[in-house]
Amino acid sequence: LHVVHITAEMAPIAKVGGLGDVVTGLAKAALARGHFVTVMLPFYESLPVDQIDDLKHEMDVEVPKGYRWDGEMRVGPLRTSVFWGRVQGCPVYLLRPAEDSNSNIFRGGKIYGGSYNEMEAYLYFCRACLEYLHVSNQHPHILQLHDWHAAAAALLFWEVYNPGAVNSRTRVMLTIHNMENTGECRQDEFFFTGMAGEPFASIDKALDERTIGHNPERLNLMKGGIVYSNAITTVSPTYANEVLNGGAAGWLRSTFARPELRSKFHGILNGIDIEEWDPATDPLLPANYDAERAGGKALCKKFLQQGLGLAVDEHKPLVAVVSRLVPQKGIHLIKAALFRTVERGGQFVLLGSGHSDPVFRSLADGQFKDHPDCRLKIMYSERLAHQIYAAADVVVVPSMFEPCGLTQMIALRYGAVPVVRRTGGLADTVFDVDGSGAAPTGSRNGYTFDGADDGSLYGALDRALQLYEQQPSRWSSLSRENMRLDVSWAKSAKSYVEVYRSIAAA
Ligand code: ADP
Ligand code: GLC
Repeated sequence: LHVVHITAEMAPIAKVGGLGDVVTGLAKAALARGHFVTVMLPFYESLPVDQIDDLKHEMDVEVPKGYRWDGEMRVGPLRTSVFWGRVQGCPVYLLRPAEDSNSNIFRGGKIYGGSYNEMEAYLYFCRACLEYLHVSNQHPHILQLHDWHAAAAALLFWEVYNPGAVNSRTRVMLTIHNMENTGECRQDEFFFTGMAGEPFASIDKALDERTIGHNPERLNLMKGGIVYSNAITTVSPTYANEVLNGGAAGWLRSTFARPELRSKFHGILNGIDIEEWDPATDPLLPANYDAERAGGKALCKKFLQQGLGLAVDEHKPLVAVVSRLVPQKGIHLIKAALFRTVERGGQFVLLGSGHSDPVFRSLADGQFKDHPDCRLKIMYSERLAHQIYAAADVVVVPSMFEPCGLTQMIALRYGAVPVVRRTGGLADTVFDVDGSGAAPTGSRNGYTFDGADDGSLYGALDRALQLYEQQPSRWSSLSRENMRLDVSWAKSAKSYVEVYRSIAAA
């Protein structure tokens, strides 16, 4: 099959969170199975071009785009440069406005929130991807769109490039990584797609109320993607159930109540890229290890303790959190884990990204400044993330909701024991050591809790620390068993290919 991903993130060159990991991991897994896969990504100014192999300018295309002009929106062409290269062996197209076009889209030092308007940028990006595929005469079997940034491509594909769906061999799949951000745009902003005429009125007519989100004045791009895609996936079975039957659909509740949309919705658990995340070969670690030669893990712990200026003590349990610091991740519970760990004589390391987080910044500058058992690093660092997973005994993921979550799977692979709140994909991947009932064989691998209060977290964290302190040999065999668990893309890539085949044109 020929599969084209349209995405705002791709690890490691453009990664903010798990979306980037998933695109690269899934693309590589499908490539390894013999499919022809390419990724289309904005050519952000911040991309590290030295990590893109064989980078070359492919061609320029004129992309229809809306502009504000004298208070009105008009459509005109925006010359767009398309580049091609490879990222970890995966072919990638990179698109941005041509150098001399005076556009600031995708400029600035950051992936999101650069010097451009995000809504304008991603609506233009969707159009640019489809225009390039059209001009270069590429007809993939599957267009896989990731999250709201790419969702408008579904509507554009069927309304602009294939009206009436005559003879198109392409089918469209939307993959929802998070229902929290569904991309709402004003009617006039939808002009940025370059759709001429009165887009809102005509789409509205074509769809009844279908693309309208909770606010009738606005278009909900995720909803448009859901309605216009041949299949919809999300990133774990439990989250799929939470979307269909729980509160996770939010404003799109009524959309997901429609039987014809429910039946094309699948929950497929993410994997992790086990080459990128391999303690046996990881070049960012001071020592390598695996389940058979696990000694290197202790060296990694010592190295991190030294490097961060913590007390060097192999017997203190090292509890870690690696996370974006946003409400989804359970900020108050991360804080509770910090206090509890230190109170119990353990060490706590947080690697947290999020420019607007006041909680940990003030703790880092105040109470925990130079604390021998605690480091709060408010930054994004791939290197430190790898070193923390390798050093950690326990990784805490106390999310309020979690479509899938990758950190708990990385933790398992690196021989740490996850302590998680049982929601979304966390419930599909972590099974309580002390639990009873169904768990995939051999996968009682961590500690879980249900409530959202500090006490619930303490219950699980305390049990983990107790095992660590009181039964060291059971702990180390749990750690080694975790390293052996299959958290790869193997099974899930197969499930994706099954869905691709189920919608592919005959
Ligand atoms: P989300 O996508 O919601 O952020 P996931 O668990 O799916 O959550 O993926 C998070 C990914 O981002 C993991 O690869 C994790 O290691 C990484 N990550 C999160 N925060 C940081 C950080 N501050 N520095 C480096 N990597 C981070
Ligand atoms: C989103 C979700 C996270 C998921 C990731 C990759 O960022 O928050 O749970 O693992 O996407 O699918």
